[in-house]
Amino acid sequence: MKRDFVSIEDFSNDEIEVLFVIADKMQSLLRQCHGVLAGHIMGSLFLEPSTRTRLSFEAAMNRLGGRVITISDAGASSIAKGETLADSVRIVSSYTDILVLRHTQAGAARLAAAYAPIPVINAGDGGHEHPTQTLCDLYALRSTKGRMNGLRVILYGDLKYGRTTHSLALALGRFGSDVLCIAEPGLEMPGYVRERCAAIPGVSETEVELAGADTVFGPGGRRGLLFSRDPDAWAHSQGRLHLDRVDCDAIYVTRLQKERLGLEDGKKGSSLPPVDVRFLEHRAFGEAIVLHPLPRVSEIDPAVDRDPRGYYFQQAALGVPVRMALISFLLGREAMRVEAPVPREERLWSGRRCANPACVLATASYQEALAWTSADGRDRCAFCDHDLR
Ligand code: NCD
Repeated sequence: MKRDFVSIEDFSNDEIEVLFVIADKMQSLLRQCHGVLAGHIMGSLFLEPSTRTRLSFEAAMNRLGGRVITISDAGASSIAKGETLADSVRIVSSYTDILVLRHTQAGAARLAAAYAPIPVINAGDGGHEHPTQTLCDLYALRSTKGRMNGLRVILYGDLKYGRTTHSLALALGRFGSDVLCIAEPGLEMPGYVRERCAAIPGVSETEVELAGADTVFGPGGRRGLLFSRDPDAWAHSQGRLHLDRVDCDAIYVTRLQKERLGLEDGKKGSSLPPVDVRFLEHRAFGEAIVLHPLPRVSEIDPAVDRDPRGYYFQQAALGVPVRMALISFLLGREAMRVEAPVPREERLWSGRRCANPACVLATASYQEALAWTSADGRDRCAFCDHDLR
């Protein structure tokens, strides 16, 4: 049976760990893997701007000796003539062995996976998820901190539309690391992600007011959302989290996702201070690495590039061995020999249209529309995970 990688939930922790051992091997053999995937073609369908994700996927396939065909401009494809995603995907699948899709709408990758007989990789579906970026983020943490559990990571910036933070928060929680969300006001972590994080066994969600951080955020108090197995270890008491008494392992910065901001968001600029040399002087960040999925706009001062804690360019470079490992596994060239996750139960959903205006099911009705029921008993769209009302 084919495997897809549409959500970070599609791989178990054990599988991610084995995948990283394969990535280690790929990294040391970067120039010698040629031939492993000779005769295979990857279809790369990027219907939204991309530099790192597309090029690192294509570099990965090329390094493995496979070939790549690409659409990187929706306007130059039949999508501009009104072809549905389901039809485009069926066609590209008949020419290729594996499909990488980036799309503007949440749930597009799950929909593509339902129609494609070949493995589908989600390279970012609207504001929903970006699981291969999460693999790069976890691999960067493993490379610098030597582990993926017991870490304290701050997610900082646009957490509403920053899809990379959704997949990352889930993954960190699963691996036993804590996450403190410091969001741009109005762009907080969406409910459907919060509920999934808080449903991870042992993890609880706590709303906190940040204390001891005036030199960073100015007076007036910022709020945060903590997902932790041990909130007290965060110097947390009576709703206040004393950042000056905490050692963080990483701060993960995201840009304002301007292309996704809706009228209700009413935002033009960020009110969060950028991460600069002064910011990093705060005690909490002494040992913290600075991560960013990139592109950076103004959230990280270029002076941080020279600070050894600034790790975002190395993080981007790790995308090639990580994606080499992923493609090789999905095409059956590498075996994992560990348990895969139990797939959640989904059922055909007669409504077929999702109420989330950003979902791929909002604009078209598909036979393959699926629903699932979350732990709290709510019915959800299997493509974008939002409530089905
Ligand atoms: C991110 C994305 O596309 O979600 N970029 C990436 O893939 N490395 C982050 C962003 O665009 O801000």
